Amino acid sequence: MEFNILEILELKRVKDLLILKFSYKDIPLNPSQFFMIGPEVFDDKSFILNRPFSISNYDGEILEFRIRISGKFTNYLSLLNGGDKLRLIGPLGRVPEPAFYKGFDQIYLLGGGIGVAPLLYFYNYLNSDGIKVKLYFGAKDKDSLHYADGFDLDKIEVWTDDGSYGVKGFVTDSLKKLSAENSLVVACGPLGMYKVLKNYTADFKIKVLMEERMACGFGVCLGCVVDSKSGYQRVCKEGPMFDLEQLILQ
Ligand SMILES: Cc1cc2nc3c(=O)[nH]c(=O)nc-3n(C[C@H](O)[C@H](O)[C@H](O)COP(=O)(O)OP(=O)(O)OC[C@H]3O[C@@H](n4cnc5c(N)ncnc54)[C@H](O)[C@@H]3O)c2cc1C
Ligand code: FES
Repeated sequence: MEFNILEILELKRVKDLLILKFSYKDIPLNPSQFFMIGPEVFDDKSFILNRPFSISNYDGEILEFRIRISGKFTNYLSLLNGGDKLRLIGPLGRVPEPAFYKGFDQIYLLGGGIGVAPLLYFYNYLNSDGIKVKLYFGAKDKDSLHYADGFDLDKIEVWTDDGSYGVKGFVTDSLKKLSAENSLVVACGPLGMYKVLKNYTADFKIKVLMEERMACGFGVCLGCVVDSKSGYQRVCKEGPMFDLEQLILQ
C-alpha cells in the first residue's frame, strides 16, 4: 500500500460519470483492487474519510477510475480539472490468488450500471493473459450505456431493462443461456443483482465484488464488514471479491 499525492492527467465527464486518469508507473495492480481517494488538503470536514474506488483500467502507465457522481465528494471531484491533485492510498483489497481465474474454460463478467467499471479492467487484464472472457453489461436503458464510455460495445453483450439497446431484460438472465461447466462468473452491481445470482450458485461458481461504506480502507476500523458462512469479513481486507455462495446477504 502506498500513499501518494497525484496530479490528474485527464478528467472527462460524461453525464453523471467521471473518468479520471493518473500517471502511475510499473506497479502491479490486480483486478478487484481499489484505491481510497481524497482531496490533496483536508479543508472540508466531510472529506476526512477518503472514498473507495475500483481500478477501471491500468496498462502499466495510466491508472483509470470511473466514478458515478452521487454525493458530496464525487461532486467535488467533478469540479476539478486536469493538473489538480488528489490523495490516493492503495492499491487496497486482497490480492486475488493468481489461480482464481486459471483452469476455467470461460469467464463471464456481469456488470450492472456503474458496476461495470472494475469489470472493464478484469476484461482487459484477463484478455491480455489469453483467457477466454466475455463481458455482459446491464443498464437501465440506452441512455445509461455511458458507464462503458470508450469501450467497444460490439465486444460486449448489452442488456437493457427496457430493451432500448441490446437484449431486453436483466443481465442476470444471461446465465440462463450459458453453460456452467468449467466456467467462472465475476459480477459487480447492486445488492439486488447478487440476490438474484444466489439462485444460480448451485450450478455456477460465482464471485462478486462487494461494496460497503469504508472509513480506513485497510482493515482497522471494522466499518466495512459483511456476513458470511465463516463469520464477518472485511470488504477492504478479505474482499472486495468474495465467493457469492459463502456470503449471507441482508
Ligand atoms: C471497494 C469499493 C469500490 C468502489 N468502486 C467504485 C467505482 O469504481 N465507481 C464508483 O462510482 N463508485 C465506487 N464505489 C462507491 C463509492 O465509494 C461511493 O459512491 C462514494 O464513496 C460516494 O461518495 P460521495 O461523498 O460522493 O457520496 P455520499 O454523499 O457520501 O453518498 C452518496 C452514496 O454513496 C454511498 N457511499 C458513500 N460513502 C461510501 C463509502 N465510503 N463506501 C461505499 N459507498 C459509499 C452512500 O451509501 C450513498 O448511496 C466503490 C465502493 C467500494 C466499497
Ligand atoms: S474500511 Fe476499515 S476495516 Fe474496512
